[in-house]
Amino acid sequence: MKALVYNGPGKKALEDRPQPDIAAPTDAVVKIAKTTICGTDLHILKGDVPTCTPGRVLGHEGVGVVDKVGDAVTAFHPGDRVIVSCISSCGKCDYCRRGMYSHCVNGGWILGNKIDGTQAEYVRIPFADTSLYHIPEGADDDALVMLSDILPTGFECGVLNGKVEPGSTVAIVGAGPIGLAALLTAQFYSPGQIVMIDMDDNRLQMATRFGATAVINNKDGKAVDKIMKMTNGRGVDAAIEAVGVPASFLTCEDIVAPGGIIANIGVHGVKADLHLERLWDRNIAITTRLVDTVTTPMLLKTVQSHRIDPKQLITHRFKFANILEAYETFGAAAKTNALKVLIEA
Ligand SMILES: NC(=O)c1ccc[n+]([C@@H]2O[C@H](COP(=O)([O-])OP(=O)(O)OC[C@H]3O[C@@H](n4cnc5c(N)ncnc54)[C@H](O)[C@@H]3O)[C@@H](O)[C@H]2O)c1
Ligand SMILES: [Zn+2]
Ligand SMILES: [Zn+2]
Repeated sequence: MKALVYNGPGKKALEDRPQPDIAAPTDAVVKIAKTTICGTDLHILKGDVPTCTPGRVLGHEGVGVVDKVGDAVTAFHPGDRVIVSCISSCGKCDYCRRGMYSHCVNGGWILGNKIDGTQAEYVRIPFADTSLYHIPEGADDDALVMLSDILPTGFECGVLNGKVEPGSTVAIVGAGPIGLAALLTAQFYSPGQIVMIDMDDNRLQMATRFGATAVINNKDGKAVDKIMKMTNGRGVDAAIEAVGVPASFLTCEDIVAPGGIIANIGVHGVKADLHLERLWDRNIAITTRLVDTVTTPMLLKTVQSHRIDPKQLITHRFKFANILEAYETFGAAAKTNALKVLIEA
């Protein structure tokens, strides 16, 4: 089969690989129908993710059809259409029993990281019973690719951790696919204001279409002043960080209102300053989270009922044979206006 392989920092190739097989009784092999590229794949290619070693097939998102199952798999059968979760969970360890699948001692984020991933014709999924989700009859699987990672990430790490509630004020720093997923799912709770901050006008335009009540282009570095004006000097109840650089975390520190929450989503590669000398008396909380994907079944229902339409995030489509072109387009998002690129078998 063909697979997109990470060959060390800056190096990737479409290579021939043996088709994966069942290695443990709890495994399934899934024939990938649609996959996509995540910002995290670009982090890996930069060499930012040491757990991902050269020779690894990338990808942790996708939908497909079950090809084979191990003897211990009971919830899935060959021919079933499935969503692959970016997090593999054994369902049995202490963390899984607490709903913290991201820290599963036997799994967690391993797909396209510590084991071969979904940017291939076939993928082996460990703990299939607790790491795959059935696709309902008649569902649009383009939209469901967004359920592997970005929707649960925006929702769990941003909206749930940020305790967004009716009438509250929310700012989302970063209008990439993850920030926009947080924007879509924050609206479940009817916040009074959702302000989106980025430096890319195209993404901000998208945010307005997706329901942001205001957008701020922070090219001039004045986002904090503008947020303070908009909120009568109070700041925001939930400051959601969806970038992963020190500057965006600092913005959140500067705009969080007394009693508010900074909900960090971004993957940070370097340290960011924490200004406790300004924050110690403000009754705030800071949360961090690796997506658990515990809300995937609930989010699936909201997509099914058209309460949200994550398909809007797809800007480009490629055949799997052209996945290198898909990487180029996604990697040059500022020029190509790419959000999610859909890669089809
Ligand atoms: N916590 C998790 O489980 C988890 C899961 C998936 C992704 N992530 C992380 O979430 C982050 C966002 O992912 P994405 O795919 O949307 O990334 P992205 O790079 O596509 O989007 C980031 C956006 O932030 C904007 N930006 C950059 N600096 C800024 C600043 N100082 N102020 C405001 N905006 C700024 C960019 O213009 C861009 O539009 C990444 O760090 C990614 O690795 C975390
Ligand atoms: Zn991802
Ligand atoms: Zn576990």
